[in-house]
Amino acid sequence: MTTKTPIRVAVTGAAGNIGYALLFRIASGEMFGKDQPLILQLLEIPVEGPQKALKGVAMELEDCAFPLLQDMVLTGEADVAFKDVNWALLVGSKPRGPGMERADLLKDNGKIFIAQGQSIDKVAADDARVAVVGNPCNTNVMIAASQAKRLPKDRFTAMVRLDENRGRAQLAKKAGVDIGQVSDLFIYGNHSPTMFADFTHAKIGGKAAADVIGDEAWLKNDFLPAVGKRGAAIIEARGVSSAASAANALVDHVHDLVTPGKIHSVAVESQGRYGFADGVWAGMPVKTTATGYDVITTYEMDDFAKSKIALTNDELVGERDTVKDMIG
Ligand code: NAD
Ligand code: LMR
Repeated sequence: MTTKTPIRVAVTGAAGNIGYALLFRIASGEMFGKDQPLILQLLEIPVEGPQKALKGVAMELEDCAFPLLQDMVLTGEADVAFKDVNWALLVGSKPRGPGMERADLLKDNGKIFIAQGQSIDKVAADDARVAVVGNPCNTNVMIAASQAKRLPKDRFTAMVRLDENRGRAQLAKKAGVDIGQVSDLFIYGNHSPTMFADFTHAKIGGKAAADVIGDEAWLKNDFLPAVGKRGAAIIEARGVSSAASAANALVDHVHDLVTPGKIHSVAVESQGRYGFADGVWAGMPVKTTATGYDVITTYEMDDFAKSKIALTNDELVGERDTVKDMIG
């Protein structure tokens, strides 16, 4: 029997595809630990269909009889969903369809994050942390953070963990080893095809991945685009965007942010690190501490890596320019 105080966790877009793959794993303790009770505060658009679907998901959560799930709040109002939350998981937004680029989502989805950023800043707990999944997630988190007057910017992160997981899987497959052998693969920049999955520092079985793979052309010309365009490949194959793997990556993202010592890829405010423009949110390696995280700034980039980082930085700066009137 746990004696911990329950934490409040808001999930937006809770009746969507990712929501359906995510909520059961949060409630079973995979995200915050098997001894951490929680209250789920679930936000959906205030429209009959999604609200009805949300009730159905809540009925299923109830039917799982999860010991850690102490209560649920179902709502169409942001201020209710974010009230006193310790974590806000911002999933709700429009996904890409076949043939769309993430930039197509920018203006539509951006508005959501203005309102939600304001609401979180107004009503969430003092220790609230925010993880953005809704695309384009790097710019959406920047928009949400721009509205925060009370909460510090380092509490706002976006998810590039799916890209890290995809990259590790591809390296393991190519090398013919177990996934656990692949380490130190970090994602720099945007969650988009311009991202840089830094194979130059990755390791396989403790050795340089480039030496183990022994095929630089494959790493540059096959591996990088395969990871960068994996989201589009899944949309093409499934007809809808990745959901279970995205939910799994969010479980990893948050779990590792609450587990001191973990080293993992997170999109954070760049503050000029690795040559990213000040004020954009870019993927980079972080090490979780007892109270937050430290960005790891010690990786030396070669000219190839620098050129890739410059490309993904240009895209992030372009996205920021597109929404600059919105954020004021
Ligand atoms: P979905 O359409 O199945 O579900 C989205 C849900 O969000 C819907 O139920 C919708 O009603 C709800 N919603 C929309 N606006 C909302 C708002 N303002 N407040 C609350 N809820 C709202 O989509 P999905 O497959 O669950 O994907 C959600 C988002 O996650 C998309 O933007 C998608 O592109 C993104 N995504 C990101 C990653 C990543 O790695 N960062 C991976 C996969 C998907
Ligand atoms: C993904 O990477 O699978 C998601 O971000 C969906 C998308 O639009 O690519």
